[in-house]
Amino acid sequence: MRAVDIIARKRDGDGLTEDEIKFFIEGYTKGDIPDYQASAWAMAVLLKGMTAQETTYLTLAMANSGDTLDLSKVVPIAVDKHSTGGVGDKTTISVAPIVAACGLAVGKMSGRGLGFSGGTLDKMESIPGYHTNLSTEEFLKQLGDIGIVLTGQSVDLAPADGKLYALRDVTGTVQSIPLIASSVMSKKIAAGAQAIVLDVKSGLGAFMQTLDEAKELAEVMVSIGKLSGRRVIAVLSNMDQPLGSAVGNALELKEAVLALKGQGPDDYIEHCLSLAAYMLVLGGKAGNLAAGEEMAKTVIENGRAFEMLRKLVIAQEGDVSYIDDLSKLPKAAFIEAVTADRPGWISVVNARDVGETSVTLGAGRAKKGDTIDPAVGIMVKVKVGDQVERGQRLFEIHANDQSLLEGVKNRLLQAVRILPEPVSSLPVFYGVIGE
Ligand code: URA
Repeated sequence: MRAVDIIARKRDGDGLTEDEIKFFIEGYTKGDIPDYQASAWAMAVLLKGMTAQETTYLTLAMANSGDTLDLSKVVPIAVDKHSTGGVGDKTTISVAPIVAACGLAVGKMSGRGLGFSGGTLDKMESIPGYHTNLSTEEFLKQLGDIGIVLTGQSVDLAPADGKLYALRDVTGTVQSIPLIASSVMSKKIAAGAQAIVLDVKSGLGAFMQTLDEAKELAEVMVSIGKLSGRRVIAVLSNMDQPLGSAVGNALELKEAVLALKGQGPDDYIEHCLSLAAYMLVLGGKAGNLAAGEEMAKTVIENGRAFEMLRKLVIAQEGDVSYIDDLSKLPKAAFIEAVTADRPGWISVVNARDVGETSVTLGAGRAKKGDTIDPAVGIMVKVKVGDQVERGQRLFEIHANDQSLLEGVKNRLLQAVRILPEPVSSLPVFYGVIGE
């Protein structure tokens, strides 16, 4: 078999066999197939697509390119969640402790932010000392001991995805449903959870800009999960406007911790309670969504969800005093308001603009390896559908570089549209695919 023939077959729109896909992924992981051939192949997949069967072969080949964990050795059942990425999405930091406090183990490997979309690891690292690089043995031990882990992707799991994702990022081949689905699901399958809740975002601040694309991605991922023997559902959620209020690492961590005390923006709380409920139902702890939401609310009210976050931070050697006293978290030197230039109703708060502006302030990376500033970001003070007066606060910019303020202010003013007539609010969720 030759890589060039496999590339040419995909270029011509042919379906690839299981053996061809395995050959390609194994060869690329080992370094026998070079980056230039893998780039050409990824572009052919992006342009010609893949059938559900090919995407499943690809996912399994990527999942089997390294170790695969068997969590049933340490806990009876573990649940995982994955968001396809968005702006202000700090959900894992609230939901993982809520679900673990309800007695369902959560073993989660998260990523870093890239581009306009934030990453859970960067947010957790606002806590000094917090380790995000646990070994596979440490992951399993902690999951068995305390029922919660929140760390980075281990290099031994799905290494084909590690290599391919970095390549896609710089070859314009991220936006492909089979490539995204196999990337996400190979990591989830290798990480071993029996139940997986996928949060597929759709809108201006998401990879999938339209609901139809998001649905298609969700359907492909759910069917791959089922074929590999996992219980999987995908919720479709709105990412036209940022989720919650905080965008930026320490700001988001603070919002996520306050949610564990029952405080925070309505959309964020609704999002967290629903995702927790789906995880509890899928993991067999709750009989239905309403019961799952009740369980989630109870562990927030009795303090056990917050206590679980403390346990997680202590286990991963973070300084827990930063969670106990949120005023200790890094703070920006300059806080400046952006206000409405006219009265009316908010019709757009463009999540992508807000995410990119936050990156400009230093909250994200322009390229892999850049350092980030945990203190900076944006507090979004309005939602689509809100009525505002002239002069009312739309955003609060948290910056450490005063020279950026003017440009950021202008960009944020462009991110918002105010209309003279009432506008409906946006839904948090569009629906659910699976089970
Ligand atoms: N998230 C992933 O893990 N992979 C992708 O390809 C896109 C989003």
